[in-house]
Amino acid sequence: MNVQARHTADATTVEEGLAIQEAQSAYDGDFATQTAMQNTLLTPRFYTTDFDELDAIDVSPVREDWDKLMERMRSDPNKGHFRKTEDWDTVDWEGMDPELKAEALDFLISSCTAEFSGCVLYKEMKRRGTNKDIKELFSYMSRDEARHAGFINDALREAGVAVNLGFLTKQKKYTYFRPKFIYYATYLSEKIGYARYITIYRHLEAHPEHRFHPIFKWFKEWCNDEFAHGEAFALLMRTDPKITGSFVNKLWIRFFLTAVYSTMWIRDHARPRFHEALGVDIDWYDMEVFAKTNAIARQVFPVEIDIDNPRFAAGCRRLERASRDIDAARARGGIAGLAGRAGGMARAAAAFLSIYTMSVRRNAVPDSPRMEPAY
Ligand SMILES: [Fe+2]
Ligand SMILES: [Fe+2]
Repeated sequence: MNVQARHTADATTVEEGLAIQEAQSAYDGDFATQTAMQNTLLTPRFYTTDFDELDAIDVSPVREDWDKLMERMRSDPNKGHFRKTEDWDTVDWEGMDPELKAEALDFLISSCTAEFSGCVLYKEMKRRGTNKDIKELFSYMSRDEARHAGFINDALREAGVAVNLGFLTKQKKYTYFRPKFIYYATYLSEKIGYARYITIYRHLEAHPEHRFHPIFKWFKEWCNDEFAHGEAFALLMRTDPKITGSFVNKLWIRFFLTAVYSTMWIRDHARPRFHEALGVDIDWYDMEVFAKTNAIARQVFPVEIDIDNPRFAAGCRRLERASRDIDAARARGGIAGLAGRAGGMARAAAAFLSIYTMSVRRNAVPDSPRMEPAY
């Protein structure tokens, strides 16, 4: 395969997409890779799981919906989409306000890492699987995520930084999650990814003067991929009623909702200049994304976080302040820094608990989870 002549957008398999990225990485520096290597509670992680258990899933209970979804993924509507075209405007990275530049790069690097995190997990399932249905699903999803990560890396290269994806695969720490935790976490991250991308896309459609980077023009097709990936996890969860229905698992779902929502709040609020440039009020944006995600997740989750309860936003703000104080204490170092970190973590834990223990809204889950992107 002549990888130089090809682009990740056209890659039809994850292996091909990654080989193209690998060939380009010879020219990449390591600032972005080091950022992507970070493992904190707030940075995107890589996951591994019990692949045999996942492989043993029988999709017969959802066969009809499953086949429709596979047919769509097989038809590959976004092949060739994730590449620069004449719609790609030049970005003046050099002339950009330094704070905005730092936050925009941080956004791109963390998005690239998150896309790639899905890619490596899905690719591994594809590689190890023996179940025809599971192998097929994970080959399409890893293909898509390799394109997404590759496209963001193209954007990063223009700024002189890019993530070395091959290095990351080998060197980044992997966190083990049982399959059911993978379902909750990955389902939510795919659906929240859809909600985030479509909300920005619609906002910039109405306010194109705020589109300071061309990549946002690609978000519509992009978020449809993420939506479809989320649909697949919704179907996987529906193969066994216990996964979302048992008492203990409902507590886990609440835990993952709290973790995913509060992490997003903290990360977004750490990028004030980026959102200012987009003309987006961060509080509004985050609440909008949570509302959309809540509405979508009713297809499969029997409980949802009551984001209108004032305790929710108050808890997120407390977490945000605690997180900022932890960072400041870490930077200070020494005994005072250590004490500051411990205090910050205790406050963060209390704030997290105050969200987690709010009374939840209960949903009657529909018979068929299938949904179309509606925003
Ligand atoms: Fe993606
Ligand atoms: Fe995805």
